Amino acid sequence: MAIAENLGALRTRIKSWRQQNEVIAFVPTMGNLHEGHLSLVQKARELADRVVVSIFVNPLQFNDKQDLSDYPRTLNEDIQLLSELDCELIFTPTEEMIYPNGMASLTKVIVPGVDDKLCGKGRPGHFDGVATVVTKLFNMVQPDIAIFGEKDYQQLMLIKKLVADLNLSVDVIGVPTKRHESGLAMSSRNSLLNQKQLVQAPLIYKTLLSMKQAIEEDGLTDFHQLCATAKEELQKAGLEPEYVDIRRANDLELANANDKHIRIFVAARLGSVRLIDNIACDLA
Ligand code: PAJ
Repeated sequence: MAIAENLGALRTRIKSWRQQNEVIAFVPTMGNLHEGHLSLVQKARELADRVVVSIFVNPLQFNDKQDLSDYPRTLNEDIQLLSELDCELIFTPTEEMIYPNGMASLTKVIVPGVDDKLCGKGRPGHFDGVATVVTKLFNMVQPDIAIFGEKDYQQLMLIKKLVADLNLSVDVIGVPTKRHESGLAMSSRNSLLNQKQLVQAPLIYKTLLSMKQAIEEDGLTDFHQLCATAKEELQKAGLEPEYVDIRRANDLELANANDKHIRIFVAARLGSVRLIDNIACDLA
């Protein structure tokens, strides 16, 4: 496993792989790797000859300075974890490499229709930052396949639309969410939770499961009421829900009872830590 700390080192490797017609799979991350990230790397391994993982905490997608400075950075541990997997290259660029001319007058990639709902509402500019950095990373790594987690379902849909709209020749693959035994979705932000919050956080997934059951098994169709009740329950348990929303799985528009494939989304704060999760729900 090699580590490319700069673009030159990355290009040399990519060029020789492309010359040999090898299939390259790419897993972009912001580090502080956990089993969720590693499941993406395993998927990449199954699909490609060469696996590239990037680790870059992208300042452009943080609309909150505190969140950016609190974001856990554990590069040595991350490298150790990846060395135990079968991964050819880790790309660890610096901010200066990704944004050599700064971010103030940067050309940005904006994905309309995805960035104005769910997390897009509460985090203005976040998805422009994600779309822009992922486009840059795709141009640098030139992957055939890129792997993203369903944990960030809106991000996965954003990347799929970006790739389709801009005719990028990358296959975008989604991987199911990895969870702790408690049901809590694995997330780098979980390490910022205290003991009490770690007990409260699994309620997010429990809420998603009971909403799914209410729709799939009990036939509830008043989605608005269902979301309002779930929000109240989260509040009562000491979480601060930002949204509970039910959307169509394919285009993230508000769902109604006639839709077949829907997705339930929750974003909630525990103190200063913002957690998100979602679950698929299929109607008969
Ligand atoms: P990061 O939060 O590090 O996540 C990297 C990838 O891991 C994303 O595709 C995310 O959906 C996936 N992931 C995170 N937790 C997961 C879990 N519990 N199970 C399965 N997959 C999980 O998402 C980003 O970084 C950034 O926005 C990035 C795409 C790298 C652009 O900066």
